[in-house]
Amino acid sequence: MKSQLKGRSLLTLSDYTPEEIQLLIDTARQYKKLKQAGTPHRDCEGKNIALLFEKTSTRTRCAFTVAANDLGIAPEFLGKNDIQLGKKESVEDTAKVLGRMFDGIEFRGFAHSTVEGLAEHAGVPVWNGLTDEFHPTQILADFMTLEEHVGELRGLSLVFVGDGRNNMANSLLLGSAQMGLDFRIAAPKSLFPDETLVAQANEFAKKSGAKVTITDDIAKAVAGADAIYTDIWVSMGEEDKYAERIELLRDFQVNMAMIKTTNKPDVKFMHCLPAFHDTMTETGLHMKQEYGLEALEVTDEVFRSKHSIVFDQAENRMHTIKAVMALTL
Ligand code: CP
Ligand code: NVA
Repeated sequence: MKSQLKGRSLLTLSDYTPEEIQLLIDTARQYKKLKQAGTPHRDCEGKNIALLFEKTSTRTRCAFTVAANDLGIAPEFLGKNDIQLGKKESVEDTAKVLGRMFDGIEFRGFAHSTVEGLAEHAGVPVWNGLTDEFHPTQILADFMTLEEHVGELRGLSLVFVGDGRNNMANSLLLGSAQMGLDFRIAAPKSLFPDETLVAQANEFAKKSGAKVTITDDIAKAVAGADAIYTDIWVSMGEEDKYAERIELLRDFQVNMAMIKTTNKPDVKFMHCLPAFHDTMTETGLHMKQEYGLEALEVTDEVFRSKHSIVFDQAENRMHTIKAVMALTL
């Protein structure tokens, strides 16, 4: 496939124009149709990619792997304990070595500077599969899912409720501002996003017509929302913060009362997953024993309700990541 994005990395959505983001989503829609029709689409036959994971993953790892196989690409998974990166070899040297062998590199991990370093030195496209600061491939899937369920992105009202300064909130903030959404964050003041990011979003908004609202007033934030989005309260790498976050975010749980407050009977519920919506996980069970909570960021009732489009988001990770690889390789 001939592409204007050939050779580009994807570290944050800010690397791309709104038109390029839309192209990625539109391409993902085409790939989804091909996949559903069972039509082969081995558009990158013979390529090899490295999948670097410092943090655990279900969706991102599987999306890259399946998308790679569908495109005719050979993926190689390299977990935290499989390679020398960090312990015996620098980011720069690792990037140079991997770039000599692979056609593209996915990285999931802690410091955003690591993915930037890989992109600087690899000489091949590097895709951010999540860092402490950003999760851009997730946003592509979320926007694709919103288009499927609500419609055109411009003017659509999306509310992120919860930890307003985590990688998901940051990425949704910038992406929404680029694509012209009416984007709101409802979070306690101490978890508001970084001011430089809000300023960057407001710059994007001037061009796109987006609206950006950051507030701790939940009722005001969710009024008339097309979609409510939440994420876990404690992100990977912050596991010592449960007590503090539960205290801060208890009132920000997405439950049926919040859904009703939107006054929109068909409001959508979104989550990047994994979600603590019941006690069927080790952590979920521990939260019940320790804090008496049946669920954290979203109730089981909302998670399983007609409002919820979370598994469409999860599936669309694969189609969007496929588009990213096909257009940049
Ligand atoms: N949403 C997401 O990135 O899921 P994983 O952590 O399972 O990859
Ligand atoms: N904020 C979450 C997102 C997981 C997909 C984390 O970083 O753990």
